[in-house]
Amino acid sequence: MSELTDLSELAKRRGFFFASNEAYGGTAGFYTFGPEGAALKRNVEDVWRDRFVRELGHMELEAPTVMPEAVFEASGHLDTFDDMILECGDCGATHRADHLVEDATDVDDAEAFAPERVADLVADHDVACPSCGVPLADRPVEAFNLMFGTNIGPGSSSPGYLRPETAQGIFVEFPRLKEYARNQLPFGVAQIGRAYRNEISPRRALVRVREFTQAELEHFIDPEYDDPPLERVDDVELPLYSAAAQQDDGDLEHHTVAEALEAGVVESEWVAYYLGEALAFYEAIGVDMDRFRYRQHLPGELSHYAADCWDAETEVGGNWVEVTGFAYRSDYDLRKHGKHSEEEFTVFRQYDEPKTVERATVDPDMSYLGPTFGGAAGDVVDALEALARRDRSAFDGDAVTVEVDDESYTLPVEKTGFAVEEQTESGEHITPHVVEPSFGIDRLVYSVLAHRHGTDEVDGEERSFLALPTGVAPTTVAVVPLMTKDGLDERAREVAASLRAAGFEVNYDDTGNIGRRYRRQDEVGTPYCVTVDYDTLEDDTVTVRERDSTDQTRVAVDDLADAVDRLVSGAALSEL
Ligand code: GAP
Repeated sequence: MSELTDLSELAKRRGFFFASNEAYGGTAGFYTFGPEGAALKRNVEDVWRDRFVRELGHMELEAPTVMPEAVFEASGHLDTFDDMILECGDCGATHRADHLVEDATDVDDAEAFAPERVADLVADHDVACPSCGVPLADRPVEAFNLMFGTNIGPGSSSPGYLRPETAQGIFVEFPRLKEYARNQLPFGVAQIGRAYRNEISPRRALVRVREFTQAELEHFIDPEYDDPPLERVDDVELPLYSAAAQQDDGDLEHHTVAEALEAGVVESEWVAYYLGEALAFYEAIGVDMDRFRYRQHLPGELSHYAADCWDAETEVGGNWVEVTGFAYRSDYDLRKHGKHSEEEFTVFRQYDEPKTVERATVDPDMSYLGPTFGGAAGDVVDALEALARRDRSAFDGDAVTVEVDDESYTLPVEKTGFAVEEQTESGEHITPHVVEPSFGIDRLVYSVLAHRHGTDEVDGEERSFLALPTGVAPTTVAVVPLMTKDGLDERAREVAASLRAAGFEVNYDDTGNIGRRYRRQDEVGTPYCVTVDYDTLEDDTVTVRERDSTDQTRVAVDDLADAVDRLVSGAALSEL
């Protein structure tokens, strides 16, 4: 069986994740996290929160998942958040055209191609419909917007969308958030929450789904004055697969953060900083670092807003999966929201010393503009003010022309009240830049399950186990009575209750023989099992068994919570 089949089978059998709504035939691209998976996912999120919110001192918010259309007009999602779709003329199945091309050729970034080029490749390579086998050569490749639309309230006058990324819920609240940050850059705002994309071809279980969880951090900085605290990560070694290496058949290179910046492999200090910060997070949740890399975006892949972009990728079942995007988004998002909304998406940058500057201003003669331009007069004034700031030479002649909504308005310069004045200013309004690490939690959970799953032989029998780090394992300790008689089960329940009271995630398991129970706990990644046996009734000690080594030792019940605490903190079983 392949790693992916193994994983899906284990995930379903043991309650990590499974396809949703199967009672009604299933819904492609939606997965339910079962009891083990929900706990594992929550623990991964907590490790993320601990590092990217608490340790780095950022804020966290929780915004709605439905947002009005205006947000996505401003962000560009309405116009450009598209994938290329190709519909089979025979069976009506829809496919992602770039994926069909990638599967049929050695192209690996067809997403960056224009639809016409993808259509040509479909024809040139005789690509057929994967569902019915009919050739797709004459079918058009069209843009398909990935957002799920809805209506806010009854009727259709207020369209809305399920957010395709959690980031927009942070950007739109910037005017308020900057106040909580006391109007001082830099500051970071994080959010963990659901995002929705109506993927054309959901695939590989949790890898491409239609509803998933993102953990995003938007770090707002002053591009001229704010530097990242590189001393925290200077020596962290990064596995880097640069755009140059990808283009020249080169290999992964290992550089420390300091070396990568020095050699120009990573251009942005901020991006390099977060590549360094994130590495310990991946290790802590159990990603196998021999199956992990940072891959730089190829020039054609770069988002229109991103200056430097790297993805963290994990290898699962022979494929590389993007688990995080690290982007320097410049001032793109805040500038767009500033332009489309009525709010200021800027912060005030105070100068060290007040500066005397020349400012071009207008003071239009409204007794002329009103009668001349009627209802457009107000917009003409705004346009004149903007033009004076942007290009004072436009006022050099006798007349000046401004554009409002594709209409030109010309008026004598003397009616504009144009003047250049000296002003003393204590600072200026700037639009912050954004550095964004954006993590896909579902893909991380999937990768961790794949990387931590193993098999070995114990007592002549094959064992399947999940070597999850204690910090993310759904259960820390399972309490198992040797028998469910002679008071062993009652005593075991008491031991379980005392461990729960001490704050541990505990599973009480008394079904099946003891060997099966160990196997079951090994397979859901429980690092420790505590067995209550007949000796417990005599001397009040229990056996503590370690998942990875299967070694065992005896501990007094009175010392048990302390012993588990030491194990969780890294002590070896032999040290108890
Ligand atoms: N705000 C930036 C942003 O959303 P992205 O690269 O589109 O960037 C970030 O998404 C992360 O979200 C990805 O690295 C991936 O881990 C996860 N992700 C994106 N689409 C997904 C999908 N359809 N299913 C599961 N995870 C997805």
